[in-house]
Amino acid sequence: MPQHVTPLPPALSPSPSPSPAPAPASAPTSAELLDFVRRTAADQELVDSLPLDPEGRTWVRLDGPGGSEAWLIGWPPGTGTGWHDHAESLGAFATARGTLTENALAVRLPASGWKTLELADGLDRSRRLSEGTGRAFNRHHVHEVLNESPDTHAVSVHAYYPPLPLIRRFSRTGAVLRLEQVERPEDWQ
Ligand SMILES: [Fe+2]
Repeated sequence: MPQHVTPLPPALSPSPSPSPAPAPASAPTSAELLDFVRRTAADQELVDSLPLDPEGRTWVRLDGPGGSEAWLIGWPPGTGTGWHDHAESLGAFATARGTLTENALAVRLPASGWKTLELADGLDRSRRLSEGTGRAFNRHHVHEVLNESPDTHAVSVHAYYPPLPLIRRFSRTGAVLRLEQVERPEDWQ
């Protein structure tokens, strides 16, 4: 992610403990990530600590469970991610303030070897995630997330496992999806 990365404020650090937390027995499932993002979205103090900018999205990185990558993200009215996927990472997100819209494709895209694809009919899925609502997703999930409100900031919590190796970004014109860019962690950290 390009701009507005802010250091983790002390309020977001895990509480001190006398000994390090034990390593997880196994990788977190999407259900466990969903539980984490819902609980974190309900943490008013943490959610309120996110700096909000009327001009663009803001975010802070969080410690997700089991080595997952987690973010608290602020969305001014009218902002969105554009279409993208998360490669081999599964994940979850939950709305903490406002309402987000998720448009998703019910299809697995080929991993490589294409520049444009024509989508078949009936693959579009859309859902609105109001405050306190979350959803989990599996590997290869393709979506865009938007704050369609004309006047209300939204805040959400996201978690991915494994930590995102890359994001593929797409543009879309009607049924035609075009691969525009592959971003890697060094591009957004
Ligand atoms: Fe995403």
